[in-house]
Amino acid sequence: MPQQQERKKELSVRHLLSTNELTYSDFELIFQVAKEFKEGVLKAQIKKTPALQGYTIANLFFENSTRTRISFELAQKRLSADTVNLSASTSSINKGETILDTVENIRAMKVDMMVIRHSQAGVPYWLSQQVDAAIINAGDGAHQHPTQALLDAFTIHEELGKIRDKKITIVGDILHSRVAMSNIYAFKKLGAKVCVCAPKTLLQHGIESLGVDVSHHLPEAVHDADIIYVLRVQVERQNQRSYFPSVREYHANFGINMELLKSLPNRDTIKIMHPGPINRGVEISPDVADALPHSLILDQVENGVSIRMAVLYLLSRRLQTLG
Ligand code: CP
Repeated sequence: MPQQQERKKELSVRHLLSTNELTYSDFELIFQVAKEFKEGVLKAQIKKTPALQGYTIANLFFENSTRTRISFELAQKRLSADTVNLSASTSSINKGETILDTVENIRAMKVDMMVIRHSQAGVPYWLSQQVDAAIINAGDGAHQHPTQALLDAFTIHEELGKIRDKKITIVGDILHSRVAMSNIYAFKKLGAKVCVCAPKTLLQHGIESLGVDVSHHLPEAVHDADIIYVLRVQVERQNQRSYFPSVREYHANFGINMELLKSLPNRDTIKIMHPGPINRGVEISPDVADALPHSLILDQVENGVSIRMAVLYLLSRRLQTLG
């Protein structure tokens, strides 16, 4: 681990549950360590460091995932941690065991950290009160997805050189999005100007209190943006209600397509981001999703590994300090 001996700074938290509870210094430290891992380990021929040798990490995914799950697993392997994986579909939860019993059984096998994704908001926080392992929230309901926000902010910093005073417009299903909530807290703390743009039915009442501008008119919301951050319509969290007349109507009013991009004054520099999975032709057209150098979608995925390495490493240091 580069500069391991010299680093004295630590995270202010012993779990990663929400971007809301991270300080500005926490963000700086995570980005600094992520950069060191990216340059020093992930770009090396042998992509491995012994930084987490002897630590055991359980990945508990009670909801589907591709990017988050694989990048946590890769981050753990790159750090030489021992890992175990549990999927809800193949666990004894299907035989009636509670989550708490499941987690206490895993903890009894001397696991140091747990990465958890769950469809219910608050489960990672609740677990952090029950067990002494470090808990990392990999997405809980429509509440928070802190490592997604960290990798997004890291990607913007890398691309634009800074986040402060940049305008980031988040477009789409804000109401059901944990990514939107995590990112609003992170981007605001890092000094960005944030605008949210969605149909009225897909926005929380009173979201202005988070310090964001609100728009229901896409061309106006993205006109002077540096980043357009596109969100998927979260059909699985909409309880079979219909929030807009049709997908065609949604795309016509809130979809990001090439015609919109070409109409922007900063069409040459505008960056497009999306946490994935993308629904081509719904919230984003395929030509925009694939438009390089505008689309940062795969850069976000790449940075997910170094950010998650940094989070795991820094939380392991907190565990050491706490004994
Ligand atoms: N961005 C994100 O959380 O993707 P997955 O659901 O595939 O993990």
